[in-house]
Amino acid sequence: MVCRNKSLPSEGYRWRSHRKIITPAFHFKILESFIDVFEKNCSILIKKFEQEVGKNSFDVYPYVTLLALDIICETALGTEVYAQTNAHSEYVESVKDMCRIIMERTFNPFLQNDFIYKLSSIYRREKKALKILHNLTLSVLQTKRKRLLSNGSLANQDECLGIKKKLAFLDLLLQATVDGKPLSDTDLREEVDTFMFEGHDTTASAISFILYMLSKHKDVQEKIIQELNMIYADDTSRSCNHADLLQMKYLEAVIKETLRLYPSVPLFARQATEDIIYENTLIPCGTRLSIFAFGIMRDPDLFPEPEKFDPDRFLYKTRNVQFPYAYIPFSAGPRNCIGQKFAMLEMKATISKILRVYEILPAEPVHELLLSPETTLKSANGIHVKIEKRKYALGTKINAQTNRHSEYVKSVKFMCELLMLRVFTPYLHSEFLFQFSSLYQKEKKALKVLHSMTESIIQQRTDDLKTKSPLVNDEDGIGIKKKLAFLDLLLKSKLEGSNLSDREIREEVDTFMFEGHDTVSSAISFTIHCLSKNPHVQEKILEEIRSICGFDRNYSFSYTDLQNMKYLEATIKEGLRLYPSVPIYGRTFAEDIEFDGILYPKGTIAIIFAYGMARDEKIFSEPEKFDPDRFLNYNTTNQYPYAYLPFSAGPRNCIGQKYAMLEIKFTLAKFLLNYEVLPAIPEQQPILVTEATLKSANGVNIRIKRRNFMT
Ligand code: HEM
Repeated sequence: MVCRNKSLPSEGYRWRSHRKIITPAFHFKILESFIDVFEKNCSILIKKFEQEVGKNSFDVYPYVTLLALDIICETALGTEVYAQTNAHSEYVESVKDMCRIIMERTFNPFLQNDFIYKLSSIYRREKKALKILHNLTLSVLQTKRKRLLSNGSLANQDECLGIKKKLAFLDLLLQATVDGKPLSDTDLREEVDTFMFEGHDTTASAISFILYMLSKHKDVQEKIIQELNMIYADDTSRSCNHADLLQMKYLEAVIKETLRLYPSVPLFARQATEDIIYENTLIPCGTRLSIFAFGIMRDPDLFPEPEKFDPDRFLYKTRNVQFPYAYIPFSAGPRNCIGQKFAMLEMKATISKILRVYEILPAEPVHELLLSPETTLKSANGIHVKIEKRKYALGTKINAQTNRHSEYVKSVKFMCELLMLRVFTPYLHSEFLFQFSSLYQKEKKALKVLHSMTESIIQQRTDDLKTKSPLVNDEDGIGIKKKLAFLDLLLKSKLEGSNLSDREIREEVDTFMFEGHDTVSSAISFTIHCLSKNPHVQEKILEEIRSICGFDRNYSFSYTDLQNMKYLEATIKEGLRLYPSVPIYGRTFAEDIEFDGILYPKGTIAIIFAYGMARDEKIFSEPEKFDPDRFLNYNTTNQYPYAYLPFSAGPRNCIGQKYAMLEIKFTLAKFLLNYEVLPAIPEQQPILVTEATLKSANGVNIRIKRRNFMT
């Protein structure tokens, strides 16, 4: 990089003493204090991205460059330049211009001659840009020097490092000495310039390529989201801290894999400082050697299937023992990138923050990169992606698992309990009497919480549907492309002319919410209970799961993976046979019906006892035995097609059965991959009660043991 050669001292002694000075500036305590700077500036980026939501394609690179510039100015100089909010300020324009000039000189042999260069108009541009850049650095420098002289220090002392919070790199350099003497203004300015250029263009290029790769690899993005969900379990909106960033192991692997394919510095140079014999060839002192990192990292001998984007290659193996210099996005040896830890933290903070708010999708039409090795690796036609706000039956997350005491979660629980109480308390059946009970007031309060949440989401989603481009994309032929919440489908049908009222929509959503959560949790709990007593079944499931995902405990199962889990499906069916979530339900005859010689008049209520039928030994031999195999070849065309009814049958059967099966499969597959289930001590038999769904009065108790992934 010309920039580096220009500003960094090339000779050994000077470089070494400077490197020694700047090394403490990258101490983890200092890096930790910069995380607030990353957070603050990423929040600006998140806001800026809003204008791109719903567009088919946009270039992320210009946004990310300004972000990286804001971050480096604040951390290196301790001064804000507001590049993101004022992208055309003199300072920002000068930085951009310097990058262009370096480029033009590098690729124009003519301009590499200093004499010719000084006669060119580019030289005059360079002088102008450098003047603006240096003026800022020098004026910050002078202010800081004055403060240092009058206070004796730039910040209050910290216990262990002599550094309090957020001291810019420049502050540290100002207090450093070489051979007992402080650094001159020119020395300091050169160091700061190096940071500024090395530290913003490289990270900007890396972050942009990472976003591009994520747009093309939905599965990878999902895995990162899972990792983030685990880290931010207690609060999804909180800012990140140093410990969070250190936990992002999968994201780190994604970053490393992107840097392998798209190293920010694709080529760098070294000069032999003595004669070297390499493979019987003499390389004389002074020879310039180019290291083509881009090529090395795509060598199939070093990285099998090198063109494949596979972050897993960095998950388990940290270093290629045979070829320790195979992976060199940050170079290697004493002159490697001193900022690599800083860069890794910055990239993790930025990508994780973006992904918590936006889903990254491929640009439309498809965008192919046109790589160009400028000062850093770039794409000549930009780095285009598409973004959507991340959304989660309502299209929003309520975080019940992590916030079980929220008003919403408490209200759902109360409404389930109330429903049961009313079913089993005859005097509460009467609406008239119920209205005089204290429960009625409580019901009103709970319903208010539930309805106001649903209504506000309905409002927000309607606005989104009206203002943004259509959410539905018919590309896959079934009319629904990506995660479209139930609510969106209803709203869309309303916008397209169906005469659903807001109230009807709300009632539909409420039905989904109630039918969709208690039934599934009952099924999962009882199936786990059965598994705790049947280790051989667990083993078979584990074998099936591992044939799909190996030993990757964070594996994100796709739809096809779930479809392929036939034995797990049989297990869930057997769990539902023994413990149907809805053990009993009713139908009212819409007309007179004669059955087995008896006339049942219209209006008769028939009770279907699904629980009893599924344990009838005429239908299921040894009915008390938990035996998933019976569902491996089970077909409903047998003698009793209506014997197995956990989801009911006929036109009013459960509309969510496929959804439920996917949810239960996904949950159990993830759970069993990570945990072994054992019977509780002392062993417990559930005391079955029929509330709105089948429950156990004494809970469903089990023990779990983390699986060992080394085997
Ligand atoms: C993804 C981000 C980054 C990548 C891929 C990267 C890569 C590199 C590479 C390959 C070199 C060596 C080049 C050569 O030998 O000619 C280097 C040097 C350097 N980098 Fe980075 N860099 C990144 C971010 C940063 C950041 C954020 C900073 C500062 C905050 C930084 C500061 C430096 C400095 C000061 C050097 C010169 C070190 C020396 O010569 O002693 N880099 N970088």
